[in-house]
Amino acid sequence: MLEQAIAPYGSDEPEKLMDKFYNAGNEMLLTLRNYITTPDNRKRSRTWGAIEAAQMIGVSNPTFRKLLEKYPTIPGVVIDKTEGDRKIKRFTLQAINMLRNYTNTGYQRPKRSKPLIIAISNLKGGVGKTETAVDLGKKIAIEGLRALLLDFDAQGTATLISSGLIPDLELKYEDTITNVLVSNPDNLKDIILKTHFDGFEIVPANLAIQDCDLLLPNERENNQATLGSPYLRLTKALNGVKENYDVILIDCGPNLGILTLNAIIACDGMVIPIPPSMSDYSSFIMYTATLRNLFKNLSNKKLEYLRILISKHNGNNEALQMENMMREQFGRYILSNHMCETVEVSKAANEIGTIYDVSRPRGSREAYRRAIQHLDDVNIEIINHFKEIWSRQADKAKQLEVEGTVNG
Ligand SMILES: Nc1ncnc2c1ncn2[C@@H]1O[C@H](COP(=O)(O)OP(=O)(O)OP(=O)(O)O)[C@@H](O)[C@H]1O
Ligand SMILES: [Mg+2]
Repeated sequence: MLEQAIAPYGSDEPEKLMDKFYNAGNEMLLTLRNYITTPDNRKRSRTWGAIEAAQMIGVSNPTFRKLLEKYPTIPGVVIDKTEGDRKIKRFTLQAINMLRNYTNTGYQRPKRSKPLIIAISNLKGGVGKTETAVDLGKKIAIEGLRALLLDFDAQGTATLISSGLIPDLELKYEDTITNVLVSNPDNLKDIILKTHFDGFEIVPANLAIQDCDLLLPNERENNQATLGSPYLRLTKALNGVKENYDVILIDCGPNLGILTLNAIIACDGMVIPIPPSMSDYSSFIMYTATLRNLFKNLSNKKLEYLRILISKHNGNNEALQMENMMREQFGRYILSNHMCETVEVSKAANEIGTIYDVSRPRGSREAYRRAIQHLDDVNIEIINHFKEIWSRQADKAKQLEVEGTVNG
């Protein structure tokens, strides 16, 4: 009664109310997560049918059948159903990658090329950074390459939709990057988690990583005397693990805190998602001024890769006009393909994942096919750019070796 009299539209005990929301919310997340995961709370590996698997390996259907006869016990083959005597099989990425290895058909990053560290960043919130980072990471893995995704946002969304782990309930302080950056960059390898996608690993996050903004700039806490500049900690930490991957993606939060600064300093390239709307565009223009000032202070900084991704495109006239304007202005720095806003992407997000997790669409097959085609187009465009960069790096290194031999 009293509460009603004082705060009829709010609460006299906001702390208790938030605590109630927090507990009820986490309980709901757990129920949802447990519904979609295996008994050990890990997300189920998605599977592909035989025809898709053969295409991914790059062999014909008869060759694929012969491969299965030759390697009958490879892990990751699932009996989907039986039709008469016939067992219909489906294949996880683990099985597909093994067969890629046996047949030597998978793409190999050229010798003498370097893993690429790519920051997915934009100051504006909700523009699709996390969706882009997680989808790109999964697509890189589907292509048979090795990806590591660093979740640099205390909201932990990338962690949740990549692994199914509930960031605040199932990760401890020491599972996140805070201690690594503040005290021991050599320990990054110890907090890397495998996911249900073979070849796609993550460095998870939860609210604990907010402490980086307090501890890293603080001279009494940041171990500068032994570990050097707090802005170079990620660079240092990644040096210890980067050779295990082809691409390292960093999902930055919507801020320019010390984690984002570490990411921009450590990265070889950036992907900046911008939805085609005036408010997102003007926010990006402000971001360019901030980046300009940052790069001015990093005198040797080069970006081997920079692309703007038009994200969450809803296809309406206003969005199309904005897209045209952005393309005119930023030219080749805008990816040719854009990311469409689709119900399928939102549906997958509501099921704690992305559409690359969906083995079989529950709704319209055609809508799913179109949605995944759009995402594939974006991700393959980016991955092809990476392949070109690696090929150039390898050619250049080879040329330098030859020159060295001739001159030396
Ligand atoms: N292509 C898409 N189609 C439909 N929904 C999308 C698409 N891309 C992103 N979304 C949704 O938009 C919301 C914001 O996306 P996302 O979390 O990727 O943005 P963000 O830039 O990482 O946000 P933040 O700044 O809060 O980290 C999410 O609910 C996500 O599911
Ligand atoms: Mg995000």
